[in-house]
Amino acid sequence: MKPVNIGILGLGTVGCGTVSVLARNGQEIARRAGREIKIAQASARDIKKPRPCSTAGIQLVLDPHEIIRNPEIEIVVELIGGYEPARELVLEAIAHGKHVVTANKALIAVHGNEIFAQAQKKGVMVAFEAAVAGGVPIIKMVREGLAGNRIEWIAGIINGTSNFILTEMRDKGADFNDVLKEAQRLGYAEADPTFDVEGVDAAHKLTILAAIAFGIPLKFKQAYVEGISKITRMDVQYAEKLGYRLKLLGIARRVNGAVELRVHPTLIPERRLIANVNGAMNAVLVKGDAVGPTLFYGAGAGAEPTASAVVADLVDVVRTLTVDPHHRVPHLAFQPDALADLPILPIEDIETSYYLRLHALDRPGVLADVTRILADQKISIEAILQKEPHVGEDTVPVIILTQRVLERNMNAAIARIEKLDSIKGSVARIRLEHLNSSWN
Ligand code: NDP
Ligand code: HSE
Repeated sequence: MKPVNIGILGLGTVGCGTVSVLARNGQEIARRAGREIKIAQASARDIKKPRPCSTAGIQLVLDPHEIIRNPEIEIVVELIGGYEPARELVLEAIAHGKHVVTANKALIAVHGNEIFAQAQKKGVMVAFEAAVAGGVPIIKMVREGLAGNRIEWIAGIINGTSNFILTEMRDKGADFNDVLKEAQRLGYAEADPTFDVEGVDAAHKLTILAAIAFGIPLKFKQAYVEGISKITRMDVQYAEKLGYRLKLLGIARRVNGAVELRVHPTLIPERRLIANVNGAMNAVLVKGDAVGPTLFYGAGAGAEPTASAVVADLVDVVRTLTVDPHHRVPHLAFQPDALADLPILPIEDIETSYYLRLHALDRPGVLADVTRILADQKISIEAILQKEPHVGEDTVPVIILTQRVLERNMNAAIARIEKLDSIKGSVARIRLEHLNSSWN
């Protein structure tokens, strides 16, 4: 049978990883796909730049449109990243009747509804396994492997760069900026690393996971997004002393006909498997009503782990090239006319436990004032820890763990605590989730 010609847009970390994996495992991949997958063309901004992969036999071009308009090419692999020109290129590829494979979570999370609608009209596939958790086949797991379940919640470590930074801060007491540079050198970080450390990249991925888990459209704009850039080493260490690990978690959960969609630093009990996911590794915990909690773990970034997912998508697309479009797996797991437009809960309406760090003057009655305010807002205290004062400071750090409470009530309590004369500076607050199967 004739090989399937593909064209790759972008020969960076993932593009080159894909070239290498297809070259090394080509025969094995052809045995799986039923046809050889041949990279006919690839594009980059600088085609003379030395690359860590061999491009022998691939025609390199500067203009990605040349690939999209090439009638010999059946599948376009978008590995440029970002919103534009990726969106325009993917839409044009679809308009030319090409199937698309992409690793671009920003593109899918923000423009996915438009892209899938166009792909549906043209009867082509848009596959995006590499967009979430790099090499971990979480899209396939949720979309196909768990298709018999009503998925209740998902909690994931889905940004390798942030996890790498938090791990190094904990293990080596390393400085935030130094670790970020190392993540960039290793090829984990996004072109704009603020997407990694401010939670945007995780929110892109969470948006995609929530859509395929609950059968809702992609709703990136409604996600609550908070990154790790304000996390201090002090909080990482106090959390550790209390038996918790600090992780940037993406949480999607069904609650009373609505959906929580939130990314923020989260304390989780250290005995949970997911609390022990370190470095750039990713892990996604999925709770289905039938299967219970399931954990998917692996490399969330890097050239070949991500290429592993890109190539798996290529195999899937090649296998179903001749299948009637109506008989393919729907892009968002649920049939397009069966998506439910569930509302996303504002962050004030979510309920969670909290870690609070405040700095109090060391005098009688201060803690009583604080606990009275918490009681007024119906907030139960789980634990209190008073630390020794830092040298040269007249305040003592006080750590409070609370039981579950509405964020709105916690906001009101924090505003009142910060007004007390005996409390200096602002109150640091980190959400805490126990991640037990019943979510309480
Ligand atoms: P890189 O920045 O390493 O590579 C981007 C490639 O696209 C380069 O070859 C670059 O050309 C080319 N390019 C950049 N801008 C343009 C443009 N305006 N027009 C045409 N070509 C352009 O990115 P990555 O490989 O890291 O990421 C690619 C995609 O994969 C992104 O969507 C990313 O989010 C996603 N991803 C990345 C992971 C990772 O570990 N890196 C993991 C999972 C997903 P040139 O080389 O000449 O500069
Ligand atoms: N920048 C991303 C991360 C790459 O750090 O997880 C993988 O999507």
